Amino acid sequence: MPRIRFLNDEIEFDCAPGTSLPRAAVDAMAGLPFGCRAGTCGTCVIRVVEGAAGLPPAGFVELDTLAVTGHLEEDERLACQIILGDTDLALRWDG
Ligand code: FES
Repeated sequence: MPRIRFLNDEIEFDCAPGTSLPRAAVDAMAGLPFGCRAGTCGTCVIRVVEGAAGLPPAGFVELDTLAVTGHLEEDERLACQIILGDTDLALRWDG
């Protein structure tokens, strides 16, 4: 069961593999920002500080939104597009 560390809020939360990151954030009461939840607005940009290698690669929509919003760092992802696997994660975000 992966453990998600929401670093901004100093929250650690265990959740089942296959859970969406937005669902985990709500259940953990983490303050991670969301907008469209469809990968197009760029509100939910996060930095995956630990565990990025265990995530599926970003899809076309996510990559396009990251590029358009100027988030081109390798550790930047859209939280709304992430489905949790077996890997522990540590996440940070602006705001
Ligand atoms: S909430 Fe809009 S891109 Fe993630």
